[in-house]
Amino acid sequence: MNKHTAPRVISFIDVMGQRQILGRKTDTAVSRVLQHCQFINGPEVTQLEADLAAFTGAKHVVACASGTDALLMVLLAKGIGPGDAVICPSFTFCATGEVVALLGATPVFADVDSETFNIDVASLKSAIEVARRAGLQPKAVIPVDLFGQPADHDAIADIARAENLFVLDDAAQSFGATCRGKKLGTFRLATATSFFPAKPLGCYGDGGAIFTDDAEFAAILRSVRVHGQGSDKYDNVRLGLTARLDTIQAAILIEKLKIFPEEIIARDRVAKRYNEMLADVCIVPRVATGSTSVWAQYTIRVSKGTRDALATQLKAEGIPTTVYYPKPLHHQTAYKTFPTAEGGLPVSETLSHEVISLPMHAYLDEMTQDRIVEGVRAALSR
Ligand SMILES: Cc1ncc(COP(=O)(O)O)c(C=O)c1O
Repeated sequence: MNKHTAPRVISFIDVMGQRQILGRKTDTAVSRVLQHCQFINGPEVTQLEADLAAFTGAKHVVACASGTDALLMVLLAKGIGPGDAVICPSFTFCATGEVVALLGATPVFADVDSETFNIDVASLKSAIEVARRAGLQPKAVIPVDLFGQPADHDAIADIARAENLFVLDDAAQSFGATCRGKKLGTFRLATATSFFPAKPLGCYGDGGAIFTDDAEFAAILRSVRVHGQGSDKYDNVRLGLTARLDTIQAAILIEKLKIFPEEIIARDRVAKRYNEMLADVCIVPRVATGSTSVWAQYTIRVSKGTRDALATQLKAEGIPTTVYYPKPLHHQTAYKTFPTAEGGLPVSETLSHEVISLPMHAYLDEMTQDRIVEGVRAALSR
């Protein structure tokens, strides 16, 4: 390379590359919707819900407008409100705690495990106690399957059963992952996911879905999705939202779901290769035994203080990185007054100083990946 030429900038997530693989399929699917004009609740929405149910093994799927709405709809349908506590991890995207607080309930933050970055079960138990001592009624836990990897659903289910909590799984980053041979979407009361474009299965705008095996609950969710409508359209029987998935987004997702299984395999191949080539210079991600990840992010840990220099050096070489998350929720302005598990949340705090995510997508070729790895290794050995 001429030393005066800027290096080619690598994509962090290659939505454009995937468009080329899909060819005209998504364009044709969108054109079909433009022809039949059923932009709301068109046939593609019903088709997508059936396809998602077949893919996950969940009995009922309710498509909706975003991952945030998916979480909110479940809490609304369960009547969560003031005086209720919902336990969630602090090391997550804000939406996990936001939906709880929006309903006037109290998010109680728990710490995460240092290897999987998912909710720590001892801290979950402590958060339940903290909620009780504060005079709140613990009603639910929202585990998050962070960066594509399932939380410890068996251990969480045991605690939820013993404490009479319902489990709403936040699988916004992990649609397609498995835990002990079962796809996410089939655990406990309900699972919420997001189809935001950057997610492992993303649409071309906002979108989401809820998975449940409970037919009655699915019917309530369908009502909540449209202003709490009852069997008579003009007698609304509960409070709800406008949270439908657009037909155009459903049409796109139907096509993208067809290539998703191969994409999951490709993402895993990329992650394994990163692990092999980087394990001696940083802490590489580890997937718990019995689980598979869809690698929404490939996130390494570097020692506190070296992260900024690494990001700057890589950026100069055309290699983008992102920090998910530089501040755990319990340190963010909107959330710092909410309670946390006993003893603080040291792992969430340490991770927020050490994690950095590298480019990850199904179409990352080996040559590009080698360039990223060389950049990381060179920067960390300086
Ligand atoms: C863990 C988690 N929960 C919820 C959401 C919300 O999803 P959406 O952006 O589709 O509302 C996200 C999106 O980034 C997320 O990462």
